Amino acid sequence: MDIPVKKWYEAVQTRYSQQKYLEKPIKPFTLKSLEKTVNQLNEIYPEIRVEIFKKSIKEILPALSGKYGNFTDSPAFMAFIINDNGEHRWSKAGYIGEAAILEATALGLGTCWIGARFVPERSRVRVNLKRGERLVAVSPIGYSSENYNLTRHFISKLFPHRDRINYKDLCPDGYDPDWPGWVKNAIKLGSYAPSRLNRQPWRFYYGDQRLVVDCKGEPSAYKRMECGIALLHLEIGALDGGVKGSVEYGGLGLASFIKED
Ligand SMILES: Cc1cc2nc3c(=O)[nH]c(=O)nc-3n(C[C@H](O)[C@H](O)[C@H](O)COP(=O)(O)O)c2cc1C
Repeated sequence: MDIPVKKWYEAVQTRYSQQKYLEKPIKPFTLKSLEKTVNQLNEIYPEIRVEIFKKSIKEILPALSGKYGNFTDSPAFMAFIINDNGEHRWSKAGYIGEAAILEATALGLGTCWIGARFVPERSRVRVNLKRGERLVAVSPIGYSSENYNLTRHFISKLFPHRDRINYKDLCPDGYDPDWPGWVKNAIKLGSYAPSRLNRQPWRFYYGDQRLVVDCKGEPSAYKRMECGIALLHLEIGALDGGVKGSVEYGGLGLASFIKED
């Protein structure tokens, strides 16, 4: 993927999950920019697509099973859809979905991953799913009305690690302070990824120019998705650390970022 490194690096630092939104419509230029990025993201893996709906998140929430929290109306939402035939589809959905989330963040929009089983009959908005497709997550998009946002922004600048596990504890085989700067930067950024109830299931391993993300315990579908989210963060951190490389799914762990020689 072609990553706008500085822009998404900044977005990783400032993104917070937002449940409350102003009803103010998204500026047409902002929405167009987001749609352009989403169209590009939809070209990356045939089994993953993101769709923007200019409807309130509350139109789709009744179709999501389980508890998801107290959201207000939003001017729009994104839906993350996978095709059930693709390999590594859950990790890829996390990776692509987080790219859309970070782009929205960079455009000044609030977001919040909401992952749940979708029951189409209960939806007030029609989602056209093709054969084999499944909606696996959504996110509201819009201007946040959480008035402590500025404070949060300020705090996140001062303490970017916020409420995360210390990144050194995310490396079960040990964290070596002598690792190259790009590796340490990548792991730090990986640790800021969002996950359900902030459970942070990802673990990182480094060796032979390869930074591996795997999950703690059995990899459920949503843990795979969260590790895919962390994979994008790793890649942004690695690129920001000055190296080139690419991501690979499977092999060692769930996925890896591999540095180019
Ligand atoms: C796959 C996934 C599903 C999530 N589902 C919900 C949800 O249903 N309701 C909610 O309020 N937040 C949800 N979240 C947001 C997390 O609670 C949030 O990312 C985590 O607490 C860390 O906080 P932060 O995103 O502000 O950094 C979800 C996050 C992920 C990655």
